[in-house]
Amino acid sequence: MRRPLVAGNWKMHGSRASVAALIEGLKGGMADVRGVDVAVCPPFVYLGQVAGLLQGTGIAWGAQNLCQVAGSGAYTGEISDAMLLDLGCRYVIVGHSERRNIYGEDDALVAEKCRVAVRAGLTPIVCVGELLEEREAGQTEAVVARQLDALLQDGEGVAALRQAVIAYEPVWAIGTGKTATPAQAEEVHAFIRSRIATHDKALAGEIRILYGGSVKPGNAAELFGMADIDGGLIGGASLHADDFLAICRAAMS
Ligand code: 13P
Repeated sequence: MRRPLVAGNWKMHGSRASVAALIEGLKGGMADVRGVDVAVCPPFVYLGQVAGLLQGTGIAWGAQNLCQVAGSGAYTGEISDAMLLDLGCRYVIVGHSERRNIYGEDDALVAEKCRVAVRAGLTPIVCVGELLEEREAGQTEAVVARQLDALLQDGEGVAALRQAVIAYEPVWAIGTGKTATPAQAEEVHAFIRSRIATHDKALAGEIRILYGGSVKPGNAAELFGMADIDGGLIGGASLHADDFLAICRAAMS
């Protein structure tokens, strides 16, 4: 049985005041969330604040990105694995489509970041997903396969995925209010699992695959009810405590 995970990706939102209010709201509503792993991924600058507020609660925290170089060094503007560990992060989002499409992160860089995160003992949430034009051109599986194959290309990559979570986020569904239907999402999730199975059958059965893209309280239960969807990576709705908590509850089986 794969334990569901619901992770909030706050993206570039928040202030010290709004972070305090949001965490307060989440803590207040977590008592009836059972059997689900819950995490929030604030902007780097609020990680210390979030760590302090969430210490000792059942909610984990993580970052939205990390440097592909481990440790420390002359990499202006970057944040390392060691820094995330120092702040008690459990998770780190890797290869989000906004990183790929706005900041030019390619498959090889995403795979390297995934390895660095795993070597540090962090759990990477590795994002894959196709653009609208790729879906319309019938290239969804080819794109997702290419993104996955970069992760699976050698033994270390496959081993790294044993400590990782995959998030399927169709780019056309992110922040658009246009959710993939449960059937559309399930089709790609099943494809991801079958692709991983060609390298490691046990891993394919065990790895958690989250869905992301306009998940809301009103559509979460149906999406999470699909056989190969093991929770969600939530953007906009994770900025509202009540909505995020409702989505966490929808992941309880
Ligand atoms: P939305 O839930 O706002 O569509 O964002 C999804 C996402 O990109 C999470 O990483």
